Amino acid sequence: MGEIQKQLLRAALCCLWVVAASVGAAEGGDENDSDNEFFSVFPDADVYPQPAPLLTNIYGRERRSLNGMWDIKVDEAGIGWRIGGYINDLNRGQLTGMELKETSFDDRSQLKVPGDWNSQRVDLDRYRGKMFYHKIVPVDKEEGKRYFVHFGGANYVTDLFVNDELVGRHEGGYTAFNFDVTDHIKDGQNTIIVRVDAFLDDSTIPTMRTSDFWKYGGITRDVNLLTLPEKHVSQYHVYLDDRESGEIKGWVQLSDNVQRGAVTVEIPEAGVKQKVSVGKNGRAEFSAQADLQLWSPENPKLYDVKISYDGREIKDRIGFRTIETEGQNIVLNGKPVKLYGISMHEETPLRAGMANSPEDAEVQMKLIKELGGNFVRLAHYPHNEHTVRMADKLGLMVWSEIPIVSLIDWDNEHTQQVSQAQISDNVTRDLNRASIVMWSIANETFPQSQERLEFLKGLAETARSLDASDRLIASALIGDFSKEFEEVGNHLLYSLIHDSELPEAEKDRLREMFEKTAPDDFDKDDVVTVMIKDQLGEVVDIVGYNEYFGWYYSAFFAPELGVDEGLIRDTMFKLMPKMRFNNVFGKPMIISEFGAGAKAGFHSEEGVIWSEEYQARVYRAQVDMLERSEAVKGMSPWILTDFRSHLRELNGIHETYNRKGLISETGEKKMAFDVLKNFYHEQRDL
Ligand code: GCU
Repeated sequence: MGEIQKQLLRAALCCLWVVAASVGAAEGGDENDSDNEFFSVFPDADVYPQPAPLLTNIYGRERRSLNGMWDIKVDEAGIGWRIGGYINDLNRGQLTGMELKETSFDDRSQLKVPGDWNSQRVDLDRYRGKMFYHKIVPVDKEEGKRYFVHFGGANYVTDLFVNDELVGRHEGGYTAFNFDVTDHIKDGQNTIIVRVDAFLDDSTIPTMRTSDFWKYGGITRDVNLLTLPEKHVSQYHVYLDDRESGEIKGWVQLSDNVQRGAVTVEIPEAGVKQKVSVGKNGRAEFSAQADLQLWSPENPKLYDVKISYDGREIKDRIGFRTIETEGQNIVLNGKPVKLYGISMHEETPLRAGMANSPEDAEVQMKLIKELGGNFVRLAHYPHNEHTVRMADKLGLMVWSEIPIVSLIDWDNEHTQQVSQAQISDNVTRDLNRASIVMWSIANETFPQSQERLEFLKGLAETARSLDASDRLIASALIGDFSKEFEEVGNHLLYSLIHDSELPEAEKDRLREMFEKTAPDDFDKDDVVTVMIKDQLGEVVDIVGYNEYFGWYYSAFFAPELGVDEGLIRDTMFKLMPKMRFNNVFGKPMIISEFGAGAKAGFHSEEGVIWSEEYQARVYRAQVDMLERSEAVKGMSPWILTDFRSHLRELNGIHETYNRKGLISETGEKKMAFDVLKNFYHEQRDL
């Protein structure tokens, strides 16, 4: 069939796109299915243009916010992913009233940007499909300028069209990206269309298997139109390289069309002003000496830093500090430090849905400061830029993580590419944030295979190669449950046999189990050490470990030992002061999670499960237990606020919320909040 006939048929079918859609579907309906090219005017996925290099510090540049109400179109059937005409049709208005229109964009169907779609419309609460966004953007296009559309984040796959032309695709829900739209933007009215597909599977990062947090869809973070000079500063990193000498180092990467010239780096308050020439690769390296006030949680000192090129200046606020490990110590600015923190998902007690603004960040960070914390684990993905800038400002050290959670398709090439892109984009966006002291490459991943190890080693290498300031690499490792639990089991058995009110017959049964599993040299007074041997410990600088003594483990032991769970829980609390945590790598440990669930306002004198009293009891036992482990140099209990989860469906308690928050999703503090607050204030002498 000749091109003309094809065009005619496509035009005909575009009008009858209902048929086209099903034809597309009948033809296996996958937009990447090249055989289907007659119906699909979109190229195969892997030839979608990639985003441009991620611009550093968009908030310090000339920009126009595109936040606000955007017209939307829910495309559940994914027609707009198969039928190119769909987009033109969406755009084409009713002119004479005689045109057959089946779909359109207008203000009768809109969503707020930034904002996940799930919390904005009840019918979209559990929607994990495809959505179109549309906005008309007037531009006074100037010669000699380059235009970028920057997204703080959109979940999961995002395609950008400007004036009906495909600009590119980004995959990943929690990292920033930008497209150079200079060749697509025109002077006057511009049509911006964004396609977002929130679909996750086993090869995406995160996977849908990782279901203990809500997979919010949509354009979840700020969108900005940046107007930059033809030749401009693309990325930069300014950091303290040597505390003793006060040596500051860094680099500035210019846009891809610059091979010479000079940049100036200025820190007025520190008396630093350096003019350095740009090399052939468009990069300028610099170093300077200065007598600086160092950034720390107690003194979150930030300096104005100016990066100038070709008469244009970018301003940033940057803190200077050093972070390293010495043996099993974490050392901030040359002094050993303990990290008293909390874990946090990107949700706010101010309203339902994802947090996305400076105001959200201020509320979250101030709650942690009130707790007496000096540290926050941003789980399990990079949070928006306002959050890390707020941590800089208020003084909180940050564990920044990418969503490599539990079982991942370790051999899948595409999964590896997406993971590498996520660690690169995460590091690149936040290189200049003093608050970020460690990059976490994964959470509770398994199995302990060579594929997993190579995959994660690759991510650690990428982070180290991009970050010349040598931030620490962390990960929440998994222990060897069968081994650790055997020792715990023996101590539980011994205590049940010798210190419980169980009937003699029961004790005899347990004694038999004990004699089978306990070592000959069992000593009831011995401490029980959970010794992490996970090979990933060789790769990281910080061994993170998630443990749930007082919560999950008792539910595991009760059926194992055939003993009432309540009695196991009481016995476990007696055992916890004997527990120790360490690792065979001689590295500092952070207990990256511990906790218990409680429904805010549910009180019980007996302290039953889900009551605030039970959660508070777990916190008292946990902080007492962890203070006894030399190797434990930090903690980030799970979690600041109750958060949405696909896993949590216990009626009357969960209602799709994980209830391990110290604060409810509407801001009510639970008793455990004060338990942790008193402990942190005491430890830090606040
Ligand atoms: C895990 C996991 C979290 C999860 C938590 C829980 O350890 O890392 O994502 O929410 O436990 O079970 O509450």
